[in-house]
Amino acid sequence: MSVDYNTIQIPLIKAKEIAKRLYNVEGEFKTLPGELDFNFLIETKRENYILKISRPNQDLEPLRFQQAIFQHLANSQLVSPKAFPDLLGNDIRIIEDVQGLKRAVRLLSWIDGRLWSSVNPITDKLLYGLGVEAGKITCALSTFKHPIAQRSFDWDLAQAAWTFKHINLFSKSQQHLVAYFQKQYEGFQNNYKKLRKSVVHNDANDNNILVSNKLIDPEVVAIIDYGDAIYTQTINDLAVAIAYAIMDKPDALSAALPIVSGYHSQFPLLEEELFFLYHLVAMRLVISVTKSAINKQKEPNNKYLSISEKPAWDLLEKWRGINENLAHYSFRNACGFAAHPKETLFLEWFKKQAVALNQFFPTLNFNQVYTLDMSVGSKWLGHESEYNDLELCSFKINRHQNEKPKTLFAGGYLEVRPFYSTNAYKKEGNSGPEYRTTHLGVDFWVKENTPIHAPLDGEVFSIYNNGNDKDYGPTLILKHQTDSGIPFFTLYGHLSESSMTLVTTGQQIHANDLIAYVGNANENGSWSPHLHFQIMLDMLDYTQDFPGVAFPNQVSVWKRICPNPNLLFKYEGLNEHTKTPNDIIIDFRKKHLGKSLSLSYKEPLKMERGSGVYLFDETGRKYLDTVNNVAHVGHEHPQVVKAGQEQMAVLNTNSRYLHDNINNFANALLATFPKELSVVHFVNSGSEANELALRMVKAFTNAKDMLAVEIGYHGNTNACIDISSYKFDGKGGQGAPEHTHIVPLPDSFRGLYQGENTAESYAKHIDEQIDVIHSKGRKLAGFICESIISCGGQIELPENYLKLAYQSVRKAGGLCIADEVQTGCGRVGETFWGFQLHGVVPDIVTIGKPIGNGHPLAAVVCTQEVANAFANGMEYFNTFGGNPVSCAIGNKVLQVIKEEKLQENAFRVGSYLKDKLIKLQKTFSIIGDVRGQGLFLGFELTDKHKRPLPEKATYLANRMKDFGILMSTDGKDNNALKIKPPLVFSRNHADELLYRLEQIFNEDFMRNF
Ligand SMILES: Cc1ncc(COP(=O)(O)O)c(C=O)c1O
Repeated sequence: MSVDYNTIQIPLIKAKEIAKRLYNVEGEFKTLPGELDFNFLIETKRENYILKISRPNQDLEPLRFQQAIFQHLANSQLVSPKAFPDLLGNDIRIIEDVQGLKRAVRLLSWIDGRLWSSVNPITDKLLYGLGVEAGKITCALSTFKHPIAQRSFDWDLAQAAWTFKHINLFSKSQQHLVAYFQKQYEGFQNNYKKLRKSVVHNDANDNNILVSNKLIDPEVVAIIDYGDAIYTQTINDLAVAIAYAIMDKPDALSAALPIVSGYHSQFPLLEEELFFLYHLVAMRLVISVTKSAINKQKEPNNKYLSISEKPAWDLLEKWRGINENLAHYSFRNACGFAAHPKETLFLEWFKKQAVALNQFFPTLNFNQVYTLDMSVGSKWLGHESEYNDLELCSFKINRHQNEKPKTLFAGGYLEVRPFYSTNAYKKEGNSGPEYRTTHLGVDFWVKENTPIHAPLDGEVFSIYNNGNDKDYGPTLILKHQTDSGIPFFTLYGHLSESSMTLVTTGQQIHANDLIAYVGNANENGSWSPHLHFQIMLDMLDYTQDFPGVAFPNQVSVWKRICPNPNLLFKYEGLNEHTKTPNDIIIDFRKKHLGKSLSLSYKEPLKMERGSGVYLFDETGRKYLDTVNNVAHVGHEHPQVVKAGQEQMAVLNTNSRYLHDNINNFANALLATFPKELSVVHFVNSGSEANELALRMVKAFTNAKDMLAVEIGYHGNTNACIDISSYKFDGKGGQGAPEHTHIVPLPDSFRGLYQGENTAESYAKHIDEQIDVIHSKGRKLAGFICESIISCGGQIELPENYLKLAYQSVRKAGGLCIADEVQTGCGRVGETFWGFQLHGVVPDIVTIGKPIGNGHPLAAVVCTQEVANAFANGMEYFNTFGGNPVSCAIGNKVLQVIKEEKLQENAFRVGSYLKDKLIKLQKTFSIIGDVRGQGLFLGFELTDKHKRPLPEKATYLANRMKDFGILMSTDGKDNNALKIKPPLVFSRNHADELLYRLEQIFNEDFMRNF
């Protein structure tokens, strides 16, 4: 019979009256969601309560049961609801509603916290915490007994067979999905029924889990609402918790694992229980969708009933796509059991088998094995453009083999490789994109057509041509078994097409039989000839191929499913290479590197490779780099690398000899400047450039007093620190030295003068400081300023500021230095140099970071007059500055900027990104200001009173890193995010950045300010 939900609802005003009459409790009332009861939060000055009023004619037994649970739990360490009696001493009070129907009323203590459903992000740590709390409840309830616990109940997983008869409520495709899990469930009843049982909570859904109010790293406080508690198979409780907590997670299985570990840490699970977990999670979802379908028919107005319907269907479908054995092994692994139940027995047997490598390749004549380094940081592999050049790669291997006769080239088990960073190996994980980077087999780099002989007896399981580019090509899989009958498989990939007819499926194979030949690049999936050999304890429903690489966060399971093939061959050099753990590297740095060196991020990263806009860490994780304006034309740009390598191989010496590279580079560089700036001095760093510029200023003016901008940074040398307010006004600094005069940061957003047309007001301070210098009877030497102030937080100078400043400085006889160390070389898009945005021509320009694309190269460009004044007879010698290698690199950087139209790209993509950030600002008011030019952008995080929010900036940068995007923070208050990526940053990269920014801006900590 259908119920009209509206007529049985309890209005708030009625709830107030009941609370006052029954409990003498008054306060602020709020209606809360509830599936069965009508719930109200009562906030009083002393304590908060939850008032629960049942539906009409509610059976009282279940309520008594719940009250008994509360009593039982009151003796445990758990945070759980406390029941309060009414004024007459009843813990359940029966009243009549307006229609004369009986309602049961209870008053419980309110547990403070946020509902899990409102928490963002749900991190692995929180998922673990949920497991811990659920495990504690299971422990606490394990001694609880009550007759009602053994009732019949639709939400009891042990009783889920009732759902079978409702399958017609679903669409055809839904029926297919549900029927699969129902069939499995029916099939395993005999063993499932034997599992241990206890009373369990049975409803840890996201509206029953309370999380602390901390917005960073919150904890699970309690799991409430014991209305569904039941005596059932204990493992069911964990299945319920998992089913709800992993909804909406892109990688559902990975999200389930911390819950399992947390639960196991409190309530040790048994291996036989874990076997059922995958299916029990699914059956909870089946119950949920069946209930929703039935209830929607009964109570079309009750929205709460269908709240979780859509995500439940999505998860059910996603869950079906996860191999159940893989899930089982992952759960076992999460609990510290051998991932595969037979793993230990298998390994015992396997290790006893000895197969000489010569037996595998009897036609090869070798007496040693050499490991070819194909790891992400391998220098042997070289640049992406090299290892993707098949001909070159094969040539290198061949030559290496000729150099090392009688050597078998092999390796790669658990090697993290750089090849697999394309979309084919990508998936969206719970923290951004993930790539299968870790190799699960051993590769043998042998010539095409090398015969391969079976290492063990077996049977042909499949032979199939996986013909896609970069796939396995012809692939043979053999099935074997140990002497105790444990099945396992061996895979042979990248074979020749002729191997396809050598054996047939089902054929018995004996050890030493010829089974295949190594293929060539035209037939083996486009690889240099090699055999990929892998062992599998389970085919996980694959038949003709099997993943040869694993996602880094799943390696701990996959390496157990695919044991080290070298356990068979026992060749020492073939074993997996151990790496120095990061904490040891950090310890060393702490002890032996200068203490004032910093490390980025709370958990520092170890980078192994760069390519274009990406950096790769030691797990092969790819990070979009929006920080590094040094890798100006892209990390390890192949042409730049080549230019340096080629010149280094021929000659590197100082600039006292004639060399074409020096002139060529000087010529190309000066061509980018206005004609007045016609002389260049080459140096090795931005600091050195500014140091030299200061000497020039002093030589030209015969004065010492410099004007510089607040929060400016110009380098790490003595003289540079003396003009860097960022340093001497910051931590450890001692304020401006006598000859440095600081003018206010011309920040029109949060500075001394705000809004439009602030140039004059800011420029007046230049005149003011010149007067101060004069008042001391001294002369102005010069003024140094960046064209967009980087460390200040990407501050754009007000229109005309630089013009006015230069006028005043020149009037006082000073020189103007434009520090273009950050902003130069096309980065600002509209112009090649930042100062050109302001219509001024400096006397001296200092250039650094981008010009060498990572090579230590910098320059000072000045007018002929300045250069003449500096050349006062004292020789200027620089050991490295302007050497042929540096000049080759600098020249190539300029060439690449031009050829790849990177200045235009900076303009186009920068404008696009800036526009989008301004749009984002409309949704997220925490973005106080968006600014910058080209690909030298930034935004500042502030509250509505423009107060800086540095913790939010740090949080954002760290969370972006978690999602694979590198960003840096800066500014006077460290609340500005800087965006200055390599100029090969495309619109897609900008979209990727914006997508993740939006995601993190939606997280609780970012929304609360
Ligand atoms: C504006 C500016 N000038 C000069 C320097 C010093 O350059 P380097 O670190 O190459 O010595 C920096 C470095 O960050 C800088 O940002």
